[in-house]
Amino acid sequence: APKSDKATLVGAIDEGTSSTRFLVFSSQTSRLISSHQIAIDKICPREGWVEQDAEVIMEAVRECLKQTAIKLKEDNEMDVSCLSAIGISNQRETTLAWDKKTGKPLHNAIVWLDMRTASTMDALLESVPDKDKNCLKSLCGLPISPYFSALKIRWLLDNVEEVREAQDKGTLVFGTMDTWLIWNLTGGPNGGLHITDVTNASRTMLMNLKTLQWDDNLCKFFDIPKEILPEIRSSSEVYGRIADGPMKGIPIAACMGDQHAALLGQKCLTKGSAKSTYGTGCFLLYNTGTEIVDSEHGLVTTVGYKLGPNTKAVYALEGSVAVAGAAFAWLKDNIGLVENVTEIEALANRVHHSGDVYFVPAFSGLYAPYWQSDARGVICGITEETQRSHIMRAAMEAICFQTRDILEAMAKDCGTPLYKLQVDGGMTANNLLMQLQADLCGIPVIRPHMAETSALGAAIAAGVAEGVEVWDIKDIQAPASDTFRPRVAEFDRNNRYSKWKMAVERSFGWEI
Ligand code: G3P
Repeated sequence: APKSDKATLVGAIDEGTSSTRFLVFSSQTSRLISSHQIAIDKICPREGWVEQDAEVIMEAVRECLKQTAIKLKEDNEMDVSCLSAIGISNQRETTLAWDKKTGKPLHNAIVWLDMRTASTMDALLESVPDKDKNCLKSLCGLPISPYFSALKIRWLLDNVEEVREAQDKGTLVFGTMDTWLIWNLTGGPNGGLHITDVTNASRTMLMNLKTLQWDDNLCKFFDIPKEILPEIRSSSEVYGRIADGPMKGIPIAACMGDQHAALLGQKCLTKGSAKSTYGTGCFLLYNTGTEIVDSEHGLVTTVGYKLGPNTKAVYALEGSVAVAGAAFAWLKDNIGLVENVTEIEALANRVHHSGDVYFVPAFSGLYAPYWQSDARGVICGITEETQRSHIMRAAMEAICFQTRDILEAMAKDCGTPLYKLQVDGGMTANNLLMQLQADLCGIPVIRPHMAETSALGAAIAAGVAEGVEVWDIKDIQAPASDTFRPRVAEFDRNNRYSKWKMAVERSFGWEI
């Protein structure tokens, strides 16, 4: 509900792995008013390497702001002056080094999915007792993995001449994508802010979960100088204003990793509430309140959100799955089973089961709860009868089984199983996927009508910031939704899950 009627719109930049978007919401109703989206390519120079051009991303953001300003005028007869604030929601962990004098990136951004640091991780593990990947978990909540930013920063410092030169000159800065966007939008080399928020910082392996500051021991472990890291701020405060372009002067008042923003967008504001977002990967976050819960079953501990400099941080347990939508993209682009991913649902619906085919899409190892960077994809159970519809169905079921893996780990860590699953993200438009998810987890799956919850969450965080205050967080209604209920017998569900576990075992230890 609006606290004031002075301005009626709040914007959100949603910088995701596959696309960059700008979305505008009404502060009266939280309804999506206008948006613009630009697809972003991945660059894969070698097996397991995934990069993106940070300047292309920045240009896409500027273009989305421009086009949305035009659409607002033409379609809604509204001016950008109605925008009271803008929030940012972004793909997490993706890491960039740039020169603060020239404003130029010193290398492509290294995307969260990138596996190039697997050998650096192995070398580091040699130096810790029992080669224990969880040896830093009590400080940062995360296992040592190529997924998080620290090893990516280390790789850039070790391997890129331009990065070393900038370090010698004292002009080197690092950031995740939120930091890059805010620095550029607030002026770049001419006074741009070098900041990040607690949620993004909690994905680097360098922030201490208790102090919410860069930790000396963690920086020392990865040999990363603190001076090149951004200042850590809360997720909701007026950081600064847009320096130029059609949105000049509008405050940037929120910044959150996309998965954390979706937690807010789904109104998972109480301890015990959880959501799962289906995008390139799939990420289930469980709100643990102001308590830091240490997972003993392969989940990570992360900051959920911190809505203001003087409020307490709310923490979350997270189950991260590397490949969800990416499996559909692979079936289309690499194997050519479909021309468009939207065909997958209809094709998978041509058969009533997966024909006992199991597909473990461990393209870049397996994340939670396995953390097995040597795993590689397998498709097993193929017979002469197997058709492409069975493989597509198996790809869908893989997403659902991976979610069940996470739910089982969460139930063990928290003591109580989730009794419903709130979902969001583009892939949730797939009704078959949603029904399979309910069937294979045995709990109702709740899908909001408005799937852009990451963007809505960033907009909410911007709208509740001190100095903006167009929303009152307590009054924002949970979004209207559809419910999918389980329809298969428990025996069948568990039998299929046992087979999935057998398939997962077969994916381990491939990369030696
Ligand atoms: O941790 C990576 C995650 O933030 C990426 O999200 O939606 O771009 O796949 P998405």
